[in-house]
Amino acid sequence: MVQTRTSNGRYGDELFGHERSDERDRLNALTHTYDEITFARLDSLPIRSDSRCLDIGAGTGTVAVSLADRASSGRVIALDRSTAFLDPNTRENLEVMEADITTAEFPPGSFDVIHARFVLMHMPEREEVIRRVVSWLAPGGWLLLSEGIDPLSSTSPNNLYSRLFAGVWDAMHRSMGTDVNCARNYPAMLAEHGFVHIGTDVHVPHVRGGSPMAEFYRVGGSQMRESIIAAGHLDNNEFDAGMALFDDPTFIDFAMGMISVWGQRG
Ligand SMILES: C[S@@+](CC[C@H](N)C(=O)[O-])C[C@H]1O[C@@H](n2cnc3c(N)ncnc32)[C@H](O)[C@@H]1O
Repeated sequence: MVQTRTSNGRYGDELFGHERSDERDRLNALTHTYDEITFARLDSLPIRSDSRCLDIGAGTGTVAVSLADRASSGRVIALDRSTAFLDPNTRENLEVMEADITTAEFPPGSFDVIHARFVLMHMPEREEVIRRVVSWLAPGGWLLLSEGIDPLSSTSPNNLYSRLFAGVWDAMHRSMGTDVNCARNYPAMLAEHGFVHIGTDVHVPHVRGGSPMAEFYRVGGSQMRESIIAAGHLDNNEFDAGMALFDDPTFIDFAMGMISVWGQRG
């Protein structure tokens, strides 16, 4: 049932455009669920107060602001192809940059810390992007990449939930080249790039009807309705019933996980 990619669409073209009235709410729900884990990971890295940091695909900027607070006498660039949700006046040492990471350029060794969360998974050329991103890190600098992973929806006792998520990942792949398993080879990739002190982690939160994570799914899933039904994952009624789970306070299941890989450039 999974189809190959037919369009050359990008993040924000068909899905998740920042001009959508509910997109900020969707991203706020994302940060509500995963920021705690990311901040704990940043706590574990030796980020200096004068570090030069880059947050790729900064979204609403919560991680960029956290980096700016850690690198209080350093500098943080919050880069996104749409800066609609990034306030350039939050912190003095935080610069907002509108750029596409697939074409952005920085001099070699420009940064001590580079972070990207739920961004590279949405672009088919991610390995080439990572190769360039690595060159922007100073020797001894730290890279933290986090992506979505979905180890558990396919085995859910709720058949609608499993089929809805098969449809969601398929629709995102066809629309913009999303690969929910892309981080699978990140540890080996970092090792090949000469990284040391490589670490890995997977965190799988739960979703309960009415929770912020359910809101994240409800808003995102509704944008994929036609694509999921046309591809035959669910019919109209099944799609509606699947989405209704996210309003049902008795529904609870594992949600999208966050897989993180980090390391120090050798
Ligand atoms: C799912 S959101 C994640 C936002 C943020 N990193 C977080 O985890 O809260 C993905 C973000 O990456 C940005 N993005 C997607 N493709 C991009 C690209 N090619 N260059 C720069 N930013 C991109 C989107 O505009 C969006 O803000």
